[in-house]
Amino acid sequence: MLQPFTEQSPRPSQATDWDESPGFDYKELDALWVTKWTPESSWQPGQLYAHQGATLELSPGANVLHYGQAVFEGLKARRTRNDKAVLFRPIDNARRMRASSSRLMMEAPPVQDFLQAVTAVVRANARWIPRYRKGSLYIRPLLVGSGPALGVRPAQEYTFCVFASPVGTYMGGNRVIVLSTAHRAAPYGTGAAKVAGNYAASLLPQKMAKSLDCADALYCDAREDRYIEELSGANFFAILHDGTVVTPALGSILPGITRDSILTVAREVFHWPVAERRVSIDEILNEAVEAFYTGTAAVLSPITVVNYRGQDHPIGDGEAGPRAQMLLEALDEIQLQERPDYWDWVVEIDE
Ligand code: COI
Repeated sequence: MLQPFTEQSPRPSQATDWDESPGFDYKELDALWVTKWTPESSWQPGQLYAHQGATLELSPGANVLHYGQAVFEGLKARRTRNDKAVLFRPIDNARRMRASSSRLMMEAPPVQDFLQAVTAVVRANARWIPRYRKGSLYIRPLLVGSGPALGVRPAQEYTFCVFASPVGTYMGGNRVIVLSTAHRAAPYGTGAAKVAGNYAASLLPQKMAKSLDCADALYCDAREDRYIEELSGANFFAILHDGTVVTPALGSILPGITRDSILTVAREVFHWPVAERRVSIDEILNEAVEAFYTGTAAVLSPITVVNYRGQDHPIGDGEAGPRAQMLLEALDEIQLQERPDYWDWVVEIDE
């Protein structure tokens, strides 16, 4: 059930001064946004609903339940030192949702509608943006085929929902494993789209990785099983002996917004050589002095050990490297308006 969000809507009490990390969990906050698309009305004007007790009603025939028409996004609102609320590259999330949706033959909200929904959700839940450097408000735009289908065909109704949750760090852990029994994506598959099914398929490899004391699986390509692709929910990077920052080329991997930001910062702020190309596991084990993974949720985390074919391989000296740290700090400072934002990535929200 959804109840319009009003002054009288129930609001959870906020007994936090943000000194404790909020973790990374679904929480019901003050308000969420929902709107629908049908062939007759196209996208209806969306609105805020009370988040407390909110549920989405779905027909048992909803396409998403049978055939998996579901895509999502993730972005963060943070507080600057001056207590301004800022978003990072929301237009890129809007565009990527449209690209992901087109892969699954889904109707997606226009970029302006997406931005309106995200902004409204951040404003309505602004008290849940953690204090400066104490975490973020993670915003989750979600689009599902809610219309019924029995035969395999696109839904005739789509539901777009945006909710938010305060978060701290996601993942963590510096040891990853290349599993001999898991690939994330196939050529011409859905690897480049942010579709829910990619993440469902990563649950088992993630569990296997964790049972072997690794933070996550590091996937190689499905064709030759030797070129690195990414982790379950984060992109892969390495720094080679000659100083080049390398990351797997786009194709069957997620075009991460943090991935693109790190490439840009490496190239344009630090003037380091950067390469997006095929990166073999052998090259990483022999040539990398640093490695790390990136994502909106994961931010940037060093990889110090890669387990491959049953053996641990330290990367460089097996410690977190200085250049990954420089990239992390620069990105963080850009996001918090403490470094020039030459690319207009940061969007201030009027509260
Ligand atoms: C994100 O980084 O925002 C993601 O969507 C990854 C997800 C596994 C939490």
